[in-house]
Amino acid sequence: MNTVVTPGTRRSIGDILVSAGRLSGTDASLIMEHQRQHQIQFGDAALALKLLTKDDIDFALARQFDYTYLAQQDTSLSPDLVAAYKPFSAIGENLRAVRSQLMLRWFNTDALHKVLAVVSPGKGDGRSFIAANLAIVFAQQGQRTLLVDADLRAAPGAGQHALFKLGKSAGLSGILAGRTSLEAAALPVPNLPGLTVLPTGAVPPNPQELLGRPEFGQLLGSAAQQFDVIIIDTPAGGDFSDAEIIAARAGAALLLARKNKSLLPNVALLARRLQEGGVTLVGSVLNDG
Ligand SMILES: Nc1ncnc2c1ncn2[C@@H]1O[C@H](COP(=O)(O)OP(=O)(O)OP(=O)(O)O)[C@@H](O)[C@H]1O
Ligand SMILES: [Mg+2]
Repeated sequence: MNTVVTPGTRRSIGDILVSAGRLSGTDASLIMEHQRQHQIQFGDAALALKLLTKDDIDFALARQFDYTYLAQQDTSLSPDLVAAYKPFSAIGENLRAVRSQLMLRWFNTDALHKVLAVVSPGKGDGRSFIAANLAIVFAQQGQRTLLVDADLRAAPGAGQHALFKLGKSAGLSGILAGRTSLEAAALPVPNLPGLTVLPTGAVPPNPQELLGRPEFGQLLGSAAQQFDVIIIDTPAGGDFSDAEIIAARAGAALLLARKNKSLLPNVALLARRLQEGGVTLVGSVLNDG
């Protein structure tokens, strides 16, 4: 369900902060007076008077737009999940722009278009970072979102495990081996409503063989009945063919390159291999973080 915010029905930033106990009524009046005198926005007036911090304003904006948002002091997740901790940062804005493009080009055109693999040629390009933060912005939009960690090559505890601070648990490898189910292995993220993570599970000796099994297709089919958006994290595309197998199952991929790191020929080669495998490339992102 999408949250529709109608202008005029939004609570003011001042109201939100007063009712959250972050601002006194007297200070709110001082800010409004300053705002009126200088014809500036409430947030700018508050910052000028040093009565609120940038954190307070982000908090209020998040509430105003109905964003699920985590306070900086909440350490339940990795600070790398910037879409959750700093939704109004530049990277938050960029992620929402990518989300809009993906909605236009893939997710809303066909009921079968629900799965997207995040791929890139090299190690450390930021696939896990982008997949996780993208999944968060989709969940913030009210989409039931499943983030699948299909990097069965990652070191134990790395990838989505580290970002969502997950313990040892069953996951994708167990489902593909027929030992567990999506219902048993998928983990709803407590502080981010709408977001569920399927971890890798125990790292298997034969990732490629597991990913090639029909069980993977069946899993995505049943996930598509329960979720609106399914984002898959993958291993480096240049090293193994896992990413191609995963993207072929997903049907679509978002191709990532890392600024000053990814070599263009490697990106182009991966793009060609994916297209030859029938994968729709729905977009590309230059990760300049
Ligand atoms: N846009 C960004 N802004 C800030 N930091 C970033 C950004 N993208 C990636 N990083 C950081 O770069 C590092 C590598 O990112 P990440 O683990 O997501 O890459 P990966 O492609 O999944 O790597 P691997 O090959 O190990 O799976 C991490 O420390 C991550 O926090
Ligand atoms: Mg990764």
